[in-house]
Amino acid sequence: MIEQTLVLVKPDGVKRNLTGEILRRIEAKGYRIADLKLVSPDQELLSKHYEEHADKPFFPALLEFMMSGPVVAVKLEGERVIEGFRVLAGVTDPTVAAPGTIRGDLGRDWGTKVIQNLVHGSDSPESAARELEIWFD
Ligand code: RTP
Ligand code: MG
Repeated sequence: MIEQTLVLVKPDGVKRNLTGEILRRIEAKGYRIADLKLVSPDQELLSKHYEEHADKPFFPALLEFMMSGPVVAVKLEGERVIEGFRVLAGVTDPTVAAPGTIRGDLGRDWGTKVIQNLVHGSDSPESAARELEIWFD
């Protein structure tokens, strides 16, 4: 079934001029960019986006990081794209993300308060629908 997912190039990816490299990998894989924009998200938007993490110790640092610069928001489309993009991205911690993945090839631990790992991708059809509404409606 054709799905849509929300991908974010996080502030670290935009600052390091990796937006093109990240989009290149997504397009080379064969997914379609259905919509794309540069956004400077505020606290209200990010609190909604990351509501599942509101009680975690890293939540304030996560919001601070996500507001440290603009983010590229992408509505991505394709067969099994939700799962497929998560595989392209690699696991959360870039130190151990597999080589060949976005996080594994382009990320590492910078000693920051919160993990900076270049991209976000929705983790389920429910999250994708919820997050796309937050960022694109
Ligand atoms: P994302 O939601 O950004 O696609 O990443 P994810 O599913 O791999 O990770 P998740 O568990 O949803 O966490 C969201 C983001 O919070 C930051 N994080 N930092 N211990 C830490 O410092 C820590 N844990 C999570 C990361 O930026 C992670 O992507
Ligand atoms: Mg997540």
